[in-house]
Amino acid sequence: MKAEACTYVIYGATGNLSRIKLMPALYHLDAENLLPEGTKIVALGRRDWDQQKWKSEVRDMLEVKARDGLDESVFKRFCERMYYHKGDIKQAESYTKLASVINAKDFPQNKAFYLSVSPSDFGSIVKLLSEADLLNEDAGWSRVVIEKPFGYDLQSAQSLQRCIGKYLRENQIYRIDHYLGKGTVQNLLVFRFANTMLEPLWNRNYIDHIQITHSEEMGIGSRAQYYDTSGATRDMLQSHLLQLLTLVAMEPPASMHAEALRDEKVKVLKSIRPIPKEAVNAHAFRAQYAAGNIKGEKVKGYLQEDNVPADSVTETYAALKVYIDNWRWKDVPIYLRTGKRMAKAQSSISICFKEPPLQFFRGTQVKCSSPNWLLMGIQPEECIRMEMTVKEPGLEMNTRLTSLDASYRNENEHMTDAYEDLLLDVLEGDRSLFLRKDEVEYAWKIVDPILQKWSEERDYIATYPAGSWGPEECKRLFDKEKQYWRHKLTPKCE
Ligand code: BG6
Repeated sequence: MKAEACTYVIYGATGNLSRIKLMPALYHLDAENLLPEGTKIVALGRRDWDQQKWKSEVRDMLEVKARDGLDESVFKRFCERMYYHKGDIKQAESYTKLASVINAKDFPQNKAFYLSVSPSDFGSIVKLLSEADLLNEDAGWSRVVIEKPFGYDLQSAQSLQRCIGKYLRENQIYRIDHYLGKGTVQNLLVFRFANTMLEPLWNRNYIDHIQITHSEEMGIGSRAQYYDTSGATRDMLQSHLLQLLTLVAMEPPASMHAEALRDEKVKVLKSIRPIPKEAVNAHAFRAQYAAGNIKGEKVKGYLQEDNVPADSVTETYAALKVYIDNWRWKDVPIYLRTGKRMAKAQSSISICFKEPPLQFFRGTQVKCSSPNWLLMGIQPEECIRMEMTVKEPGLEMNTRLTSLDASYRNENEHMTDAYEDLLLDVLEGDRSLFLRKDEVEYAWKIVDPILQKWSEERDYIATYPAGSWGPEECKRLFDKEKQYWRHKLTPKCE
């Protein structure tokens, strides 16, 4: 697929996501000569700024974020693409004005609208874009990129879909889950489907359980308004973690074509055993961070963060156990967990294989015998490691753990940001890394009963000290006594 020049309109261009991700990603694409000639970037904001002011704002953003420092010649070219349009996203008039600007000759007639705004505005923006005739595809394509969260639960996701579906065809909609743009996440597909070695083992016969973890050291910062109505389950688990799960568990797709890939991901979500409300406690756990220490510094508890209501029971930690009822995975527990203000920032997938059927070394001095683990670090540590038991050199029969390493990146290879890949995919019309509407709905179906149950239980929430790995009680989710949360990506006995 070839990227085509387009007019990229960023709604919410002066906001945080645009500053730390979107503008830097577009700049890096430009630096790599990946933005097709003629591409324009229109920033839409409410502030009364002129073109010069916007360019100096973008310079400030890029001075912090440009990978190898700001390159003046790239920046000059980037500036020529930029246009600031003052407008109120709620006013029809600003859309007609926008149309008159971007329908002009020097703007490409392919259009992409990136909605980096409050989710409550998605529906009305699409309606107003349509009324200003900006979504018709007579002169070029017109695509809308929607940031997460897509809905608040199944019902609201369906109603948002009905609302935007009146104005957009499915192939015009790009629902973002930025985790799919991460190189290490895409490597998961390559690792699974470009190698034959693991495939025979990738099932219930050899795998004991799977863990998917996303932990952060950061708290909620200044996002209380959003986060307190969302919580960890909606914010991370329903989206990013379930997406990771689909990639780990899906069958090989017929091709890398968007629909083939998404069909397989949807099949996984559909096969997840529903968790009835009465089983929520056995499958899910929530907690909230209390004051504690991160890297030796005292930090506030969630309830003390700015703008958090004193009686909030919003979870900043959520863990979930699911089963996939299909031939490959029946009865293999899959544990997902995510939390803010945890001991370490880490996203990883840890696959624990079954123990050897015969305890060969029973009654000997062999220590450090452990099942094999396959450890996939998504970030910040990027790795794929297979942990194995080997003999220690020497006359005694002692063993130790070692790991086969298939690291993702060499030192001299630079990191690209997920948004670079995704913003480029929009220009190429490649929707394989974007979510289809049924995918979003099935993901909501999985977490909805949990959210409902928790919304009824508003008297108590467990807490964990900031800087810890979450509450001990969460262990109750494990099926077997021997199972435990795998925190480290290095061998346990080291
Ligand atoms: C976002 C969530 O979608 O993902 C944030 O809203 C979270 O709360 C972030 O911190 C994590 O993304 P990343 O790429 O930093 O792991």
